[in-house]
Amino acid sequence: MAEKKIVAVVGATGAQGGGLVRAILSDKNAGFTVRAITRDVQSDKAKGLAALGTEVVAADLDSPESLKKAFAGAYGAFCLTNFWEHFSPEKELVQAKGQAQAAKDTGVQHVIWSTLEDTRKWVPLSDNRMPTLMGKYKVPHFDAKGEADAEFTKLGLPTTLLLTSFYWDNLIHFGMGPKKGPDGTMAFTLPIGDKKLPGIAAEDIGKCALGIFKKGREYIGRTVGVAGEHLTATQMAAALTKALGQTVRYNAVTPEMYRGFGFAGAEDLGNMFQFNRDFEAVFCGARNLDVSRSLNPALQTFDQWLSRNKGRIPLE
Ligand SMILES: NC(=O)c1ccc[n+]([C@@H]2O[C@H](COP(=O)([O-])OP(=O)(O)OC[C@H]3O[C@@H](n4cnc5c(N)ncnc54)[C@H](OP(=O)(O)O)[C@@H]3O)[C@@H](O)[C@H]2O)c1
Repeated sequence: MAEKKIVAVVGATGAQGGGLVRAILSDKNAGFTVRAITRDVQSDKAKGLAALGTEVVAADLDSPESLKKAFAGAYGAFCLTNFWEHFSPEKELVQAKGQAQAAKDTGVQHVIWSTLEDTRKWVPLSDNRMPTLMGKYKVPHFDAKGEADAEFTKLGLPTTLLLTSFYWDNLIHFGMGPKKGPDGTMAFTLPIGDKKLPGIAAEDIGKCALGIFKKGREYIGRTVGVAGEHLTATQMAAALTKALGQTVRYNAVTPEMYRGFGFAGAEDLGNMFQFNRDFEAVFCGARNLDVSRSLNPALQTFDQWLSRNKGRIPLE
């Protein structure tokens, strides 16, 4: 039997990378094996991965040398940055560059870079429909990832740029679930008007990434966006109502209001949702559902995700 190809996974203890680890482990005939990368091999999550039989290695995105060791001998690398840990687009750029260089130095044959749009291509800094943030960004956690695409492509790396979507899991972990309004009714707040938001079960991103690796060279040099469904907030509220057995209404706010909510990242997310609203065709068009399903035949719809996860959504 041919030797299995190693896929080095950054963010293996997290949502996207963890999904890829589990996808590879459960697809024994795909010909891949996983090397899970974490800063702390002693964490509970890292130990959990090791217990599944995964190789777990230590590396830090802030240490290019450690990344080189972690990528050595790997066929594929899944590369990721975590904006929400430091809120620094500049740091994301440096961390992406380090991953690209490590992949180049170690001869990785297929890199998947988990990216998002550089929204400044559609909303230049001179466009005042939304405020410029941190001096030179419109949607900092998108723009830096999109800007970092060039770090991979300019090195001539065999790369697939993977455009991800809004995790439905944000309703559980990111405080975006329905909340009780003054009238006692649950309300789901978004600033996207009547436009569609491409969403996905976070776990499905990794499954799509495995689908890309399984296609061999087909997706090298290409950008592919993945989503489980494109839904309006009204449709999401209706699905929540059905799943939770209580009325959830869509609380439509403006992006201006959302930016003013005051939590860390509110301005960034307000601009992100406004970009989604104002450029719905671009945003949804880049995330084709049929392509996503062809990469991951088990792709969940929002209803399916809800039926599995409704009990985990905190209802305040
Ligand atoms: N929430 C959404 O709807 C959404 C949608 C699309 C894209 N995204 C993007 O997804 C990214 C986060 O991915 P995620 O949700 O999969 O992450 P996550 O679940 O929050 O986990 C973060 C992962 O990143 C790893 N990590 C962070 N800093 C590291 C470092 N310095 N060195 C090595 N590993 C490091 C962590 O590993 P250890 O802690 O084990 O070291 C962990 O595995 C963000 O940049 C965000 O913008 C989010």
